[in-house]
Amino acid sequence: MGMVLSVLSAQMKQVFILNTDMTADTISRHIYGNFSEHLGHCIYGGIWVGEDSQIPNTRGIRNDVVTALKRLNLPNLRWPGGCFADEYHWMDGIGPRENRPRMVNTHWGGVVEDNSFGTHEFLDLCEQIGTEPYICGNLGSGSVEEMSKWVEYITFDGESPMAELRRQNGREKPWKVKFWGVGNENWGCGGNMTAAFYADQYKRYATYCRNYGDNRLFKIAGGPNTDDYNWMETLMKNVPSHMMNGVSLHYYTVPDNWQNKGSATRFTEDQFFSTIRKTLYMDELVTRHASIMDQYDPHKRVGLMVDEWGAWYDVEPNTNPGFLYQQSTVRDALVAGINLNIYNNHCDRVRMANIAQMVNVLQSVIFTEGEKMILTPTFYVFEMYKVHHDAALIPMDFKSPDYEFKGQRIPAVSASASRDKQGLVHITFTNAHPHKEIEMSFELRGSPVSKVNGKIITADELNAHNTFSNPEVVKTVDYGSARLAKNILTIKLPPASVVMVELK
Ligand code: AHR
Repeated sequence: MGMVLSVLSAQMKQVFILNTDMTADTISRHIYGNFSEHLGHCIYGGIWVGEDSQIPNTRGIRNDVVTALKRLNLPNLRWPGGCFADEYHWMDGIGPRENRPRMVNTHWGGVVEDNSFGTHEFLDLCEQIGTEPYICGNLGSGSVEEMSKWVEYITFDGESPMAELRRQNGREKPWKVKFWGVGNENWGCGGNMTAAFYADQYKRYATYCRNYGDNRLFKIAGGPNTDDYNWMETLMKNVPSHMMNGVSLHYYTVPDNWQNKGSATRFTEDQFFSTIRKTLYMDELVTRHASIMDQYDPHKRVGLMVDEWGAWYDVEPNTNPGFLYQQSTVRDALVAGINLNIYNNHCDRVRMANIAQMVNVLQSVIFTEGEKMILTPTFYVFEMYKVHHDAALIPMDFKSPDYEFKGQRIPAVSASASRDKQGLVHITFTNAHPHKEIEMSFELRGSPVSKVNGKIITADELNAHNTFSNPEVVKTVDYGSARLAKNILTIKLPPASVVMVELK
């Protein structure tokens, strides 16, 4: 951030300046992507129930989940993993379902994977939601041939063995699939490779994945874990920018440590503080990875794709540890709001992000239980923030009051602003201070503003959450604490809240 511009009002309160007509890069809607893995009850139960299920479905896909996801204008959906992707052989998931092999999902709970949800089902899901598919190929245990044939199967319209096979399986016309990941976490579950070895492998895969017809592939290399700056450097140095369109980054917010992560609902203020502090760390990660990318790709051709992010807690008591099922509270609404503000503010380089995961796994936006479905606080944040999709970023320059806890300080407020195609300005704020209401004022410069309204997500308890018996404890409501006096906008952010204001 540059110099903080501020003026002092008569009451000696700091007023920050917001130039509403000075816009920067476009906030790609793809920052608002989701991720669905063959893990626990994300796919099976959460999305796919099969055509014979009593649960209302369209060709086996839950209608309630599709209807909810449509509310988010979901821009893209990553599949089939995650770690599962580097063990997945796509040909197991095509053709008559009764002939598909049953196998073990070795990564996630050792359960039977019957392959009933495969390529056709995933692409049907994307069509039903109206979202763009993002397919992650298998580099770890697959082959170049396997991945290049998958691209051919899905996207080739002419005469070829793969296009013919697709037609035999009931799909005459090819699909359009732009986003392709080349492996997942290849420094870990995707093959335990070194960065240099992966970079060479990536080039082999990228070479043989072809553009068919007018389908242009957007190839995403498996990028670093958290602060592995060497991985980013090696990749950027060794892979020419015309061979890759994006590099992924994975980082999860874990309040304590990987052995004992902490409970999703029963947490202390220590753990709350650490969750927010570790979420804010995403800003440093993105900044430092982007600056490495800048050295090799000054024209920013290659996007930074944060294709796994979110809070990761201990699983709920008495659930399968391999299913990663965790509740979601107001704390998670803050985690989502802070991360999304960070990506918006770095939209010159961050072109995509995918929360982990969409249904019933980690920081999900939806929970299902049998025929029931509920929405999480994180869902409401995604719904509230959709005003930023493809809007022009308005850079913000302000100083947040601190949230101080046991001698440590972090900024309490995060924010991002944008102007949409209709000229409406939206600002999203998070106040992570668990006890203090924070008042802030902005002098609005640029186009005249006559009206302000907004929405808020908050609750009295930090661990407030929605359950199947009480599904609307945390949800979006109208926000009435924004005031416009001439061109001064004053907002009051309640403790632990996510707020969106709209200026007309
Ligand atoms: O999202 C759960 C897992 O986290 C993914 O499978 C993997 O890529 C990451 O380690």
